Amino acid sequence: MILLVGNLKGGTGKSTISFNLGVWSAYQMRRALIIDSDPLHTISTLLAVRKEERHQPVIYSLIAAETALADEIDRISDLFDDIIVDIAAGDKVGLRAALKVADKVLIPLLPGQADVWALSDTMELIEEARQAKPELPVMVVINKADTNQQIRETQETEEAMNHVKGISLAPTSLGYRVVMRRSLTEGLGAAEWAPRSKAAEEIDHLARAVFEVKN
Ligand SMILES: Nc1ncnc2c1ncn2[C@@H]1O[C@H](COP(=O)(O)OP(=O)(O)OP(=O)(O)O)[C@@H](O)[C@H]1O
Ligand SMILES: [Mg+2]
Repeated sequence: MILLVGNLKGGTGKSTISFNLGVWSAYQMRRALIIDSDPLHTISTLLAVRKEERHQPVIYSLIAAETALADEIDRISDLFDDIIVDIAAGDKVGLRAALKVADKVLIPLLPGQADVWALSDTMELIEEARQAKPELPVMVVINKADTNQQIRETQETEEAMNHVKGISLAPTSLGYRVVMRRSLTEGLGAAEWAPRSKAAEEIDHLARAVFEVKN
């Protein structure tokens, strides 16, 4: 599956989620590749740490941006089971290019009205891509969800998503968890760093939904 992880808004967890899904896929003995199309190269840096620390399994990545993106993906798509494309914030050219070849789109969304409003920019490009690919599935996952139930933003954001046409809401949100940040520092996925953590459980749940894997 070619999975595009995108949101034109910055800091919503695109790279973190791309990496964790890549790790998940590799543990399923699938051939996983992450495409790093961000000029800040978060994924490449993270995988360099992983390599230095000699963590297994090796996660493969490739740097490709903008118009080269679609060509590169076409060229190598047969070699991998899962290709996860991490798009940079604000990169409309890259997002457009990746939408052309994507089988599915995953949008990490932060809770809160500002992020819901900002989603329309990303949705505009998705609708444009749907003129050629009307069936393109788009899943939204709420990331850094409030773990304190008293705070209503996450639930309100979920409700707002139920009114957006043409998307599905992931069966789990990802809570705001220290494990998600800390594990990255070590070049590890949340499930590797803290296998019994809530974060690991949520990533597993999300990955199964995204890659359509039954228990
Ligand atoms: N569920 C989470 N819980 C806690 N921290 C998180 C979570 N998801 C992401 N983070 C942290 O939030 C920050 C932003 O995440 P990340 O870099 O993945 O976002 P991004 O969408 O790729 O950003 P950019 O738009 O700059 O590419 C990072 O410090 C990351 O460790
Ligand atoms: Mg990023």
